[in-house]
Amino acid sequence: MHFPKKTIITAMLSCCIYSFSQAQTTATNTSLKQAYQKDFLIGTALNTAQIEKKDAKATALILQQFNAVTPENCMKAENIHPGWDKYDFNLADKIVAFGKEHNLAVNGHTLVWHSQLPVFARKIVSVDSFKTFFTNHISTIASRYSGKVFSWDVVNEALNEDGTMRKSIFLEKLGQDYVTEAFRLAQQHAPNTELYYNDYNNEQPQKRAGCIALVKKVQAAGVRIDGVGIQGHWHLGKLPLRDIEESILAYHALGLKVMFTEVDIEMLPRSFGGADVNQTMAANPSLNPYKSGIPDSLLQQQAKDYESLFKLFLKHQDKITRVTFWGVHDGQSWLNGWPVPGRTNYPLLFDRAFAPKPAYHAVLALKN
Ligand code: G3I
Repeated sequence: MHFPKKTIITAMLSCCIYSFSQAQTTATNTSLKQAYQKDFLIGTALNTAQIEKKDAKATALILQQFNAVTPENCMKAENIHPGWDKYDFNLADKIVAFGKEHNLAVNGHTLVWHSQLPVFARKIVSVDSFKTFFTNHISTIASRYSGKVFSWDVVNEALNEDGTMRKSIFLEKLGQDYVTEAFRLAQQHAPNTELYYNDYNNEQPQKRAGCIALVKKVQAAGVRIDGVGIQGHWHLGKLPLRDIEESILAYHALGLKVMFTEVDIEMLPRSFGGADVNQTMAANPSLNPYKSGIPDSLLQQQAKDYESLFKLFLKHQDKITRVTFWGVHDGQSWLNGWPVPGRTNYPLLFDRAFAPKPAYHAVLALKN
């Protein structure tokens, strides 16, 4: 199933007849997906409860606002491939069905990632057995969802901050070419699915250079890669807008689509950037200053940040195919639990009561 940009737009138009007719009478856009329908897809990550439609309010908000979804965890190896010969497709099948039922583009996340690997895979000693695991994993999952997911994050976070290859189990067992091999296998088993490389901080110059080298290597091998995902885990008041713009241009110049795959703007203190889940900080009350509410001034600042970001996205809408938020609302964001457990964070466009925040209004106002 290949969704060219225009087809997606037409499909999304037909599924929002109610909001569209509302827009005709009020002349304003009433949802993110409607406002940006001619520009790029607007996505969100879904957790287990949301995939299982256990929360009616969340389901309503997802269907009202978004036209693309990414599973937050259920397609990661430890969940979908828990044993050598054992796969658990239950939740992954459900998100694919949810996407089909509601005309949402599903981005598979992710085929190859050093984190959240099943215990058995970490214990594999021989190179040949690890190669067999790698091949079986990609071919089984990519072929099951071929024609059913719109795209795959084929390889996730293979780079260090300086642009060199991360010393992961994949690099250790399979060598430098494993990224190309992953794309080759994905291409073979999901021929009509868009194939992406996805990372955080790959808008930063050094990591960007590493990312470009990686992409060129895949392309030079004659293997298909369709896009680069810039995750977009950023911090209040510290958006690297210039680096983001240079990266959009640089990836586009390689013939690639650009997407922002895990956007959030966190509000709490931390001593490092990025999204390396292995980095953590000890809990301390001073690191959780807004547990009973966030000052409006900070919400306004966040709205300004999101506004600048979306202005930039709109400037390059011809190069950007999707912008996905990493979660539906503040209450379920991974940033409540990382890098410090048990915090109250506010990184998304909807608050804990599912109400739109100033940032939501700022993003929508750009199109009204
Ligand atoms: O499912 C188990 C549950 O059975 C167990 O009782 C519970 C106890 O801790 O843990 C549950 O698993 C947690 C899982 O999320 C599901 O909630 C893991 O501990 C927790 O580590 C895991 O965190 C996820 C993280 O990736 C792990 O690497 C986050 O939800 C998810 O948002 C985050 O997503 C990543 C992207 O995939 C890649 N880019 C960075 C991004 C943020 O880290």
